[in-house]
This record gives sequence, structure tokens and C-alpha cells, in this order.
Amino acid sequence: MKSSIFNCNVLELPKIHNRAGNITPVHGNNDIPFPVERVYYLYDVPGGETRGGHAHKKLHQLIVAASGSFDVTLDDGKNKKTVTLNRPNYGLYVCPGIWRDLSNFSSGAVLLVLASAKYDENDYLREYKSFLEFVNGL
Ligand code: TYD
Repeated sequence: MKSSIFNCNVLELPKIHNRAGNITPVHGNNDIPFPVERVYYLYDVPGGETRGGHAHKKLHQLIVAASGSFDVTLDDGKNKKTVTLNRPNYGLYVCPGIWRDLSNFSSGAVLLVLASAKYDENDYLREYKSFLEFVNGL
């Protein structure tokens, strides 16, 4: 399937309501369209800082604002869109072959990522030119 930002959507995750606090469970391959192999989270982002600036060849990810808010800009080489995440029971599914930039982190934001594979530097496209060559099949 071709990498397209139109395949990257905000998914509503389950929410178990309780007056003493809520729980969001996420089951790989069930609540989200891939098995979860790795979890990581980004935090203590200094004000005004941006992150991301890369794409993945094979990795599927779900990005969640576990706390606070931030913007995710997705680019498939043809189209771009920016999504603001600010609720812990919503996650942005990012399919392989999508360039992403992360910006506008609120103070105390925690960006949680559920990923389909272990960390592999060879799966990264860190140069925009290489990304365009990859998505254009060069
Ligand atoms: P990177 O994915 O480039 O961060 P971001 O997209 O948030 O800017 O990762 C930054 C550094 O952390 C890079 O040197 C690789 C390392 N890293 C790991 O060792 N394991 C991981 O699971 C991740 C996500 C990053």
C-alpha cells in the first residue's frame, strides 16, 4: 500500500471512566492496526523545541499525548497535514513512509509512542531527499 497521509488518522482509544481517574488500555492488532513491539515516551522537551524530522521505511506507530499537547505535521511527499494531539484517549496512527515533524509542545507534555518494531537505525530516513527517493520508489 502506498504511503499516504490519508491513511494516517486519529483513532479514538478505549476509555474506562472512573471518578477516581480514567484508564486507556490499548491492545496491539485490535485497538490499533499493528502489533506493539516497543513503547517509548518523549518528555522534558524545552519550550520552542522541535523533534521528529525523519520518516520510517517499515515502522508503524501510534502517537499519543499522554499529557499536555503538541502538533504533529505529516508529509507523504505530496500532501501535508498538521494534527494537534491533546487528549490521552486519542492516538494518531502513522503508517510507514511518512515524514513527521513534532512542534508546539506544551509545558510538561509527554509524547507516548507505541511502535510495531524494536529500535533500528536502518529503518530511519533522516534526509528529506532520501525520503522523497524512497516514497517515489527510486
Ligand atoms: P529519534 O527517533 O531521532 O527522536 P525524535 O524523533 O524524537 O527527534 O531518536 C533520538 C535518539 O534516540 C537517536 O539517537 C536514537 C535514540 N533512540 C533509541 O536509542 N531508541 C529508541 O527507541 C528511540 C525512539 C530513539
